[in-house]
Amino acid sequence: MKEKEEFSKQLADRQKQVEQLICGYLPREKTAQKTLLEAMCYSVENGGKRIRPILLLESYRMFGGSEDRLSALVAPFCAAIEMIHSYSLVHDDLPAMDNDRYRRGKLTTHAAYGEAMGILAGDGLLNAAYETALLASGDEKDNTRILKALRILARKAGAYGMVGGQTVDVELTGKPLTAEQLSFIYRLKTSALLEASFMVGAILAGADDAEVLAMEQAATDVGLAFQIQDDILDETGNEQTLGKPVHSDAKNQKTTYVALFGLTQAQEKVSELSNRAKQTLQKQKGDSAFLSELIDWLVNREY
Ligand code: IPE
Ligand code: IPE
Ligand code: MG
Ligand code: MG
Ligand code: MG
Repeated sequence: MKEKEEFSKQLADRQKQVEQLICGYLPREKTAQKTLLEAMCYSVENGGKRIRPILLLESYRMFGGSEDRLSALVAPFCAAIEMIHSYSLVHDDLPAMDNDRYRRGKLTTHAAYGEAMGILAGDGLLNAAYETALLASGDEKDNTRILKALRILARKAGAYGMVGGQTVDVELTGKPLTAEQLSFIYRLKTSALLEASFMVGAILAGADDAEVLAMEQAATDVGLAFQIQDDILDETGNEQTLGKPVHSDAKNQKTTYVALFGLTQAQEKVSELSNRAKQTLQKQKGDSAFLSELIDWLVNREY
């Protein structure tokens, strides 16, 4: 019990830390496009678990990254990954996609600001993400790592990553899916941004190629488990706790892991995947204790 409390406190501290740092990079000018800037801030500031920046930060720490370099080198990437994630949610909730009106207990961006502003806020956040990541600075050795990290971020967010996954998700909506098609969708739409988080953190800390690959594999498993848990919560969760509508998948005729294999098998898969991810992390040379606890928390979450 004591350990659980200790972890909750550590997590809350980190959530607060990354939230502060992300908010520091948001645009707040009162210029003619201020509605857009306001909608961008609304989309990022309305809560969320902040999992991706925390995974990035902790992966950096696990590979021995120096705490002195946090604000100049790591913080811009933490902010960037959360901006990309927030934009992906803003677009995911649009009428043309999942058509959901609530997220994190508040109106979705398009419901609060109108559909056009929802599209534009997403576009704005995606560009702001790269602009922010490009603020990362350091010595010559850091610059090589920054470039490598930027390439991973762009690849995992785009057509071969999150956007590609959303594409197949939307195209196959209402159609029966094979387990392979489902896992392709989950790997891209959800695992890709977690892979970017782990890989970028490791790269910035100076991990070698084999270590970065291991982190990618661990994140693939965490992402699949995370998305299956999201599907489970869509069926069994409580709208109040979840902060977003339940039964959104059924409404949209999405074939989910739960729909394909049932609740029990879905729960078993979540624990199998998360255990494998933790084993992969334990084989690395750094201390993976916090990340392992975080993975357990993620797959047992209720929101
Ligand atoms: C929701 O992501 C979308 C999925 C990939 C399942 P999160 O569950 O990380 O959303 P927030 O940021 O905590 O609201
Ligand atoms: C979305 O998956 C994954 C993204 C890339 C945004 P879902 O559509 O299941 O996410 P929620 O349930 O709306 O958060
Ligand atoms: Mg969706
Ligand atoms: Mg959705
Ligand atoms: Mg969902």
